[in-house]
Amino acid sequence: MLAKKYTGKKLVDNIFTISRKAKEAIANYGKANVVNATIGSLYNEDEKLAVYSVVEEVYRTLPPEDLYAYSTNVIGEDDYLAEVEKTLLGNDYKESMKGLYISSIATPGGTGAISNTIKNYLNAGEKVLLPNWMWGTYKNIVLENEGVVETYELFNSNGGFNLEDFKNKINEISKTQESLIVIINEPSHNPTGCRMTYEEWKDVYTFIKGLKINLILIRDVAYFEYDDRTEEEKNKIRALILDLPANILIMYAFSLSKSLSIYGMRVGAQIAVSSSEKVIQEFKDALSFSCRVTWSNVSKGGMKLFAKIMTTPELKERFLKEKNEYMKLLMNRANLLMTEADHVTLKYFPYKSGFFVTIPIGPNVDKVIDDLQSKNIFVIKFNDGIRIGICSVPTYKIVGLAKRIKDSIDKF
Ligand SMILES: Cc1ncc(COP(=O)(O)O)c(C=O)c1O
Repeated sequence: MLAKKYTGKKLVDNIFTISRKAKEAIANYGKANVVNATIGSLYNEDEKLAVYSVVEEVYRTLPPEDLYAYSTNVIGEDDYLAEVEKTLLGNDYKESMKGLYISSIATPGGTGAISNTIKNYLNAGEKVLLPNWMWGTYKNIVLENEGVVETYELFNSNGGFNLEDFKNKINEISKTQESLIVIINEPSHNPTGCRMTYEEWKDVYTFIKGLKINLILIRDVAYFEYDDRTEEEKNKIRALILDLPANILIMYAFSLSKSLSIYGMRVGAQIAVSSSEKVIQEFKDALSFSCRVTWSNVSKGGMKLFAKIMTTPELKERFLKEKNEYMKLLMNRANLLMTEADHVTLKYFPYKSGFFVTIPIGPNVDKVIDDLQSKNIFVIKFNDGIRIGICSVPTYKIVGLAKRIKDSIDKF
């Protein structure tokens, strides 16, 4: 009965299956004896979901009409979208980005932002270029929209961004396509925690600015709040898009899931940036149409929550302070894991910030995962590597973890 394009599609949720096994192990052996590194949400040291006190307080005191009413506009609340743009592009972006046209639409999380972009900019049968180490949902979004997945190697042999492969893949696809969607997930990349340097971004932008095809660059910034670069460093990278040609559209996929730790509230945004007024007008027309017919509008409470915190200086300061503590927690966990890994010569991808550290394993990855499970250590498989959710594993359980993983690898 299914429409042809949905026949044969089935969600294989690897994360759900393994986390169920972890829960069973906890029931059988007790929480203290199980390392559940499968979760992709930030957890405190007591293994409970991290909830920002300022978020909890503001949300519970929002007036009923902010919580229960429809959003004022289909595309989202004005004050929410204004704060999203400032948060991403810098407080003075209207001045610093003069000459560029910018427009935003609220979406159900970053997922909504990515799927709404692919739905609106992909023609059936076209290739979409994704990093080879990636959040798996990208692929399913491409498949749902009848696209074809192509990947670029994320890392070069020095662990830096693989510009060469990125360029080669785009050049190759340009021979047969007039338009191309590319995703870069940075900073705090899922699953590796890698980050691109200013020079790497400069090279990427220099290359894409010279392209003849239409390029839609999705910048998945789901974990942007946990990027510890200074505002000055971020501004330098932002300035690279000032002289964007009209055939390049930058689409930021923004999410409050990780930033405010409100995963279930489903709040995000698409922020389109172009030097062409026409391209932005098209975005406004077509994407609001898609919003209305897909999810109608986004949770008003979630949008009002963000707007209130960001526009009230005391609340914003409290948020930034709490966030800083969580960033320290993540950094401590990551540093501990990496220091111990170095000690036992366990390789990992170059982590800079974020929720995950990934260890490349190779062809024995399934055997290693099984062996780890026999030691009550649960991790997620990505390609031929394993992802450790340092976001959810308390520090005391990270002690000795690198050695236990290395021992499992050495068995095979
Ligand atoms: C890389 C990446 N992008 C986007 C998302 C989307 O999250 P959400 O839809 O909850 O905003 C996730 C969630 O895990 C992610 O890991």
